[in-house]
Amino acid sequence: MKTVLSGIRSTGHLHLGNYFGALRNFVQLQHQAKCYFFVADLHSLTTHPKPDDYLSGVKTILSEYLASGLDPEKSTLYVQSSVPQVCELYVLLNMLTYKGELERTASFKDKVRLNPDNVNAGLLTYPVLMAADILIHRANWVPVGKDQEQHLEITRMLARRFNKLYGAEVFPEPEAYNFGGHLVRIPGLDGSGKMGKSENNGIYLVDDQKTITKKVMRAVTDTGPVNPNDPMSPGVANLFTLLGVVSEPEVVAYFREQYDKCTIRYGDLKKQLAADICKHTLPIKERIEEIYNNGPYLKYVIEKGTEEARTSARATMELVRDAVGFKTF
Ligand code: TRP
Repeated sequence: MKTVLSGIRSTGHLHLGNYFGALRNFVQLQHQAKCYFFVADLHSLTTHPKPDDYLSGVKTILSEYLASGLDPEKSTLYVQSSVPQVCELYVLLNMLTYKGELERTASFKDKVRLNPDNVNAGLLTYPVLMAADILIHRANWVPVGKDQEQHLEITRMLARRFNKLYGAEVFPEPEAYNFGGHLVRIPGLDGSGKMGKSENNGIYLVDDQKTITKKVMRAVTDTGPVNPNDPMSPGVANLFTLLGVVSEPEVVAYFREQYDKCTIRYGDLKKQLAADICKHTLPIKERIEEIYNNGPYLKYVIEKGTEEARTSARATMELVRDAVGFKTF
């Protein structure tokens, strides 16, 4: 059976991109593969969040995971910092990673550009910690967005390097998983690329109807098509992509026809889009609140997941320590 792993930082909320791009597909996948989902609270520390916000952040992501359909009886859900073996492996992998390789990472260069006053070593070695997350369970598949592909490449390189240096086949090389080609890239509402936390162009699973409608109504469009078959501007194309994900095919076809006839009213399209997004997300929002307020359930889920994650991590570290040569006398 394949092992799948996915993590998300503990600051912020899950957005439509997380849900339609990945989480929704896990609902089936968790019956066919061993799935690990964790809250990357250590990774979040690169930006020095306040300790008082810690618990609510972790509980939020956990509730959002569960409300999206992850089943704790099938999958393992845990918090990264509760599995100390991750940090142990991180130290060992750091010894195999060269400074230049990390400085060349696109995400590192972005962060340096955006926050020149906080270029800490944790930021530089962010991909090594991510590699430890993945390799600690000897995962085979990691669903990642474009922005994380380079990190996965580093993970693959470290797996190879470790195996070669220590002459042991401890780690499989994890592959980027795309759900059998069904990967949908969810665009943001600002006419640019994908929906993302840092881009501030997203709709969140916890947004209420009013917020969703407001965000959609403000989405970037253009002055409208003039000639039939005019190419779509990126903003409008994005709205059609979103419509394709949340709306009935007849609805998409209707607006497509209006667009082609140059009679489309973007206001109508947006109203429909907002309503259809709400149809999907409002029930999830309700479940998120229910789960968040169910302390005993969250405690049950996290205690069970922590135990499972530690068991898997301990087994890997036994192989790792043996390969490295850590023997007891
Ligand atoms: N870096 C990922 C993000 O920013 C989160 C993450 C941490 C992760 N460790 C991981 C994702 C391991 C997949 C696998 O979204």
